[in-house]
This record gives sequence, C-alpha cells and structure tokens, in this order.
Amino acid sequence: MGDYQGAGSEWSRYWSGRAGNDSSEVYAFQGLEADEELKGFWKGVISDFPKTARIADLACGAGSVIRHAHALGYSNLTGVDISPDAIALMQSRYRGVRGVVSNIGSLPFPEDSFDLLVSQFGFEYAGATPSLEAIAPALSKGGRFVGIVHMTEGAIARECRANKAACDALEDTGFIPAAMRVFEAYDTAERTGTDADKRALSAALEGLEAPRQAIADLAAKKHDLAGHTLSGTQIMFNRRRFYKLEDILDWLQRVKDENLAHAARMQGMVDASLTREQVIDHLGRLKELGFTAREPEAMMQGSPAEPIGWIFDATKTS
Ligand SMILES: C[S@@+](CC[C@H](N)C(=O)[O-])C[C@H]1O[C@@H](n2cnc3c(N)ncnc32)[C@H](O)[C@@H]1O
Repeated sequence: MGDYQGAGSEWSRYWSGRAGNDSSEVYAFQGLEADEELKGFWKGVISDFPKTARIADLACGAGSVIRHAHALGYSNLTGVDISPDAIALMQSRYRGVRGVVSNIGSLPFPEDSFDLLVSQFGFEYAGATPSLEAIAPALSKGGRFVGIVHMTEGAIARECRANKAACDALEDTGFIPAAMRVFEAYDTAERTGTDADKRALSAALEGLEAPRQAIADLAAKKHDLAGHTLSGTQIMFNRRRFYKLEDILDWLQRVKDENLAHAARMQGMVDASLTREQVIDHLGRLKELGFTAREPEAMMQGSPAEPIGWIFDATKTS
C-alpha cells in the first residue's frame, strides 16, 4: 500500500486541475461514469433502500455514485473525499448534497450516521483495513457497506500500469530539461552575444538532439502528451521573441510536473489494488467488526466482459 497522504495530494492536484471542466471531461478521464454495468450495479444496490436512507459515498471524487442516488430521487446524501476540489466539484453538480473533506481513515461521523455506505474505487486508497475500521461505527445496525475496489489482475490496473509506463517513457526522454537549457542558453546568448555564451548555446542545442528524437518517436506512437509537449515547444521556439523566458520555462515545468503527478496517480491505483486473497482477509476483518459479508465477486465490464474490480458487500449485523 502506498503512502495515502502522498496519493491524496496527487488527487488534489488532479481535481483542482479539473474543477473548471464540464462533467463529461471529468468522467471521460475516469472512463467509468458512463459505464452501464456500473450504473446498473449501483442503481440496484441503492434501490434496496427507502428514499429517506442516509447514504454516503466515500472517496466520491466528482460524485460518481452520488450521481445515481441523486437521479433515483434520494436526498439524504453525503460525499466524502480527501480533496476539497473534488468535493466542490461534486457539490456544484449535485445540489443539496452534503460534502465532507476527510481522509477515509479518520471519518468525522458519529456512530450510526448512515444506512448505506458506498465507495467506487475509493476506500482502498486510505488502506482497506484502516478504512473498514473507520467505516464500521458510522453505519447503523442493519446498514450496508458496498464498495468496488481496484483489482490487481483487472483491466483498470492493467491500464494504469500501461499509463504509468507511458509517463515514465516521456520523463525518460529527458526532453523537457534539455529544452529548458536551450531556451535559457538562447536568451543569454542573444543578450550578451559573447563567444562563450554562443558556445554554450551550441552545446545546449546538441544536447537536445537525442531527447528530441526520443520524444518525436513517442509522439509518432500516438503518445498524446509527448506530441503536445513537442509541438508546444516547437511553437514557442519559433516564436520565442514573443514570449517571456520565464513563461516558457513555467509551461515546460508544468508539463513535467503534471506528467509526474499522473504517474504517481497511476502508481497509486496499482498500489491500492487488491488480490482476491487480500479481499478475503479484509472481509474477515469486517466479520470481526460485526458484519456478515458476501463472498468476493468480480465486477465485470465491457464486451467481451473483463473483470475491473472486486465487490465488497457487507451488512452490519451487530
Ligand atoms: C479513482 S478516484 C475515484 C473517484 C470516484 N469514486 C469515481 O469512481 O469516479 C479515487 C478518489 O479517492 C480520493 N482519495 C484518495 N485518497 C483518499 C483518502 N485517503 N481519503 C479520502 N479520499 C481519498 C481521491 O481524491 C479520488 O477522488
């Protein structure tokens, strides 16, 4: 399990970056919101409860599960997420939903606060066991906890590993630092005109050759961020007299930082994913906490159907 505080800060960065976008972009990135299997699953779970049920979505992000409860006419809804920007985004979409910024491992709710706790690819980020220990008291007796968690062998974890490798490939080209050195050297050489600074510029340009080829190769393989970085840099290079050096360097640094943050999120998802044996262990812990739990089942998605996550489904009996 990764350091969830670190993972949380990467998520905050993600949600603050997406706060201005419309919902379709947020959901397109997650790739899950429009999914019919998930929608059918959650609507089935939620519909078992009366319309007055107190429901909380843990690690709600932009409100992926809340969305279904809201559409079904449930009104006693709470979204919890570690990211204030995620909560703000969720509340801007689903009016009247209570938003709570909290780490799931230390929920601020009194005992018996909810009838249904749900979480879609969320509670495992805080570490499944600390989460379950925090979740248990917040549920009322007879209440149900249903979570879908990342699955180590599943399609989403596989995609995350591929995305992480793509981020690493971009970083490994060394293009951004090499391009920054060229812009700096140009700026200096053009200002001073000294031979030493012209030689420094030649060296910087030479140092850019291999990274430029490497990033162009990635772009040719449809690596979107590589293509965007290369074309953006070329435009700034051709028009460099119209840009301030600090703005160019700032743009390049932000691309680099976002790539690293995306890599960290992808690794965080892989680290948070669970094997069947781990799910069984966690369900054992839930039983010790007074729950009856169903055998773990795989959540299937797509055609042909592939497993994407494990379903936790437990009822608090004592
Ligand atoms: C993969 S996203 C899932 C979001 C949403 N449930 C969905 O299905 O679209 C994981 C979410 O967990 C949140 N998160 C990560 N660590 C957390 C923690 N320790 N406590 C609460 N939320 C956390 C992130 O901010 C992010 O919104």
